[in-house]
Amino acid sequence: MNIAHISSAMPDKRVLSVRGLCKTFTLHTQGGTRIEAFSDLDVDVREGECLALHGPSGAGKSTLLRSLYANYKPCAGSIVVNHKGTRVDMATASPRAVLAVRHSTMGYVSQFLRVIPRVSCLDIVAERLTAHGEAEQSAREKAKEMLARLHIPERLWRLAPATFSGGEQQRVNIARGFIRRYPVMLLDEPTASLDAANRKTVVALIEEAKAAGAAIVGIFHDEAVRDAVADRVYELFPQEVAPCAA
Ligand SMILES: Nc1ncnc2c1ncn2[C@@H]1O[C@H](COP(=O)(O)OP(=O)(O)OP(=O)(O)O)[C@@H](O)[C@H]1O
Ligand SMILES: [Mg+2]
Repeated sequence: MNIAHISSAMPDKRVLSVRGLCKTFTLHTQGGTRIEAFSDLDVDVREGECLALHGPSGAGKSTLLRSLYANYKPCAGSIVVNHKGTRVDMATASPRAVLAVRHSTMGYVSQFLRVIPRVSCLDIVAERLTAHGEAEQSAREKAKEMLARLHIPERLWRLAPATFSGGEQQRVNIARGFIRRYPVMLLDEPTASLDAANRKTVVALIEEAKAAGAAIVGIFHDEAVRDAVADRVYELFPQEVAPCAA
């Protein structure tokens, strides 16, 4: 496997180390307009730590999370993640290496659930465990527990979430994201459309993941949630110009 930058794991408890990261979008269909999301970012996250990304709308928070997950290719810089005792640079890793990191090391809870037609929400959540070799029966039992914890009514478990409300879909997304422990978790506004009881559950899930050693990078719209879970806050500022090449 072509894993970029293989060497020993990082010596301290750092599991994610970002250096000189830059992302510029070029809108080819709109006269080549260039939008710089951020430039020259340095970020470190350690085991059991939650780093909150903070800044005004358009500051580049979601773009940074997507870059960490290798959904976007940065124009410069490195994103080194500790993957099974090796270091992988997500900025330059091969597609296979990226998939391997996503499978075992990095979990990403996006803002919205991408619904898979005709697959029940129970199966969507259980699949995260069966994909890692867990027996179907026990995976489904754990999925039921997680859905119940997030107050998804039992009558919905066998339905595909296409018709669910926004908050219900978000909770299925969270159940899927948290049912398996990943060493690194990326959370994009996980509590955005949740009520107080479900926000509390998500805070508890984040605390449990941290206690188990997960390094978390999250965007938390809700200040109370951010205060409850974040160990550090990383500020992003909207950019004016786009000085670096894509
Ligand atoms: N796929 C894309 N193509 C072009 N420009 C993009 C793309 N994604 C984001 N941008 C631009 O990059 C900038 C940062 O966007 P981003 O979504 O990261 O902001 P954000 O901090 O997450 O904002 P919000 O708090 O509103 O979610 C914005 O100016 C946005 O227009
Ligand atoms: Mg965003």
